Amino acid sequence: MRKPLIAGNWKMNGSLALLETMKQALSSARVSSAVDVAIIPPFTLLMSAGKILAGSSAEIGAQTLHPESSGAYTGETSASMLTECGVRYVLVGHSERRTLFAEDDQAVLARVKAALGAGLVPVLCVGETLEEREADRVETVVLGQVGTVIDALSAEERSRLVIAYEPVWAIGTGRTATPDQAQQVHAMIRSWLSDKDPALGEGMRLLYGGSMKADNAADLLSRPDIDGGLIGGASLKPDDFIAICHAAG
Ligand code: PGA
Repeated sequence: MRKPLIAGNWKMNGSLALLETMKQALSSARVSSAVDVAIIPPFTLLMSAGKILAGSSAEIGAQTLHPESSGAYTGETSASMLTECGVRYVLVGHSERRTLFAEDDQAVLARVKAALGAGLVPVLCVGETLEEREADRVETVVLGQVGTVIDALSAEERSRLVIAYEPVWAIGTGRTATPDQAQQVHAMIRSWLSDKDPALGEGMRLLYGGSMKADNAADLLSRPDIDGGLIGGASLKPDDFIAICHAAG
């Protein structure tokens, strides 16, 4: 009953030319309508992405947002500015934002609330570092990140969220979590959510991210609690990205 979502996070990569190539690839690929697809390009491409990908199977996402609606925040972008570009999804708390831009759990929560307030779908990214995994702290870290957000939202707000589990040690490293490792953490998150509210656990889409590729996607996506993927590197190669979309549907 959970519709898979495959989202391509381009990070600080991509171009108008890549958007055009992706559009061509998506239109000849006929991705199943049973899969939601999102392209998440840099801010400068959002408006064009809305136009170029209109009518394709892909919706548009943004990589972050500022929690305030407007004001003197040089360089920042608000939720309403994103909706004006036709954006539907927005990543919040990606590990690169947490680490490189010092976004802590409270900063992440403020962004989730701003996104929800504007009708965007926040994709809350959570995940442990290698040191935390080796210190047996996966559950504490991941459920801490999930809990800070979930516990501050209403039932209606929670139902509009997507969560992406991205072990930091697997992002951009070529080192993917094994399907068993990923499934284990996804099941742990879902059971925590179900304890709060069975409908929340049942309905929440839990994406896996971290070196998901065309050749490991089917195995990861076959696991019962993995409802899609947040794809970095492989989303810059249209054929690979589409192969992952096919693996989801
Ligand atoms: P990767 O990135 O697929 O290149 O590991 C995933 C992400 O950062 O969302």
